[in-house]
Amino acid sequence: MWNFPLFPDQASISARQVDALYFFELCMAAFFTILIFILIVSFAVRYRRGTQVDRSHPPVVSRWMEVIWIGVPLFLGLTMFTWGAILYVRDYEPPPGALEVYVVGKQWMWYVQHAEGRAEINELHVPLGQAIKLTMTSQDVIHSFYIPAFRVKQDVVPGRYTSLWFAPMKVGRYHLFCAEYCGTNHSGMVGWVSVMEPVEFQQWLSQAGTGPSVAEQGERLFVQYHCAGCHQGSQIVHAPRLEGVYGRPVPIQQGNEVHFTLADERYLRDSVLEPKREVVAGYQPLMPSFKDQISEQDLLKIIAYIKSIGAKEATR
Ligand code: CUA
Repeated sequence: MWNFPLFPDQASISARQVDALYFFELCMAAFFTILIFILIVSFAVRYRRGTQVDRSHPPVVSRWMEVIWIGVPLFLGLTMFTWGAILYVRDYEPPPGALEVYVVGKQWMWYVQHAEGRAEINELHVPLGQAIKLTMTSQDVIHSFYIPAFRVKQDVVPGRYTSLWFAPMKVGRYHLFCAEYCGTNHSGMVGWVSVMEPVEFQQWLSQAGTGPSVAEQGERLFVQYHCAGCHQGSQIVHAPRLEGVYGRPVPIQQGNEVHFTLADERYLRDSVLEPKREVVAGYQPLMPSFKDQISEQDLLKIIAYIKSIGAKEATR
């Protein structure tokens, strides 16, 4: 029996599209390789030493030949570029309403945190047929989150968030790799992605041992790290309120000018770690930095909490 798969499973919607483009490029490369090989060999045979052939080599001017050898490769090149660019943009633009999962890479494991509260290590459970958006960061060095069966790969970089999305369309267990050399046990930084029926996934999420949701854990940390003292309630210090801030433009004071920046995960993260860099207009830069005081896991939870109070505000 033939059991030598040339490709990993096509387990996500984009897998088929990526493979189609890859196959097209493979055919192009094969066609031109074979064409050039045949021409080299046939010319070598035809013009080898001692053969009676016309070697006068008269100059030929042919406009059509010029048009064809410029036009055809240009057309093929632009086709591959456009096709690839469309897939790339689609692959890095998560659809609205995607299920959010947080990932922290560290030497040498993947920590995965579901919004509902369940966390896992070197495992990622996802429901079938739903778009999943991963928000990822690293605690130490650059890692790369790679699921071959979904045809997705994204660097996981310390000091910033990167994201990745996919929509699994086949139940099963698939390899998860770190695809960036990250130290001694890089090769052991592997895991499994389990795609489950949505009903089973819900059962799995609510299985025993599941505590509060990430946003609820974040709310606790928000108090524990004394964020609440200034950003909530009595407001001992004049600090901006955070309800509804996520996903909205915030006015930032820079010298005498005010410009707007989007309050996304990047902005919230930087505001905690480097609060003096982008100060909201009308406020003093009083907040201390939480750099080296807060772990990536806790930071993700606090950001999830801030996002959740934004959502509540927006539905009002
Ligand atoms: Cu992490 Cu290689």
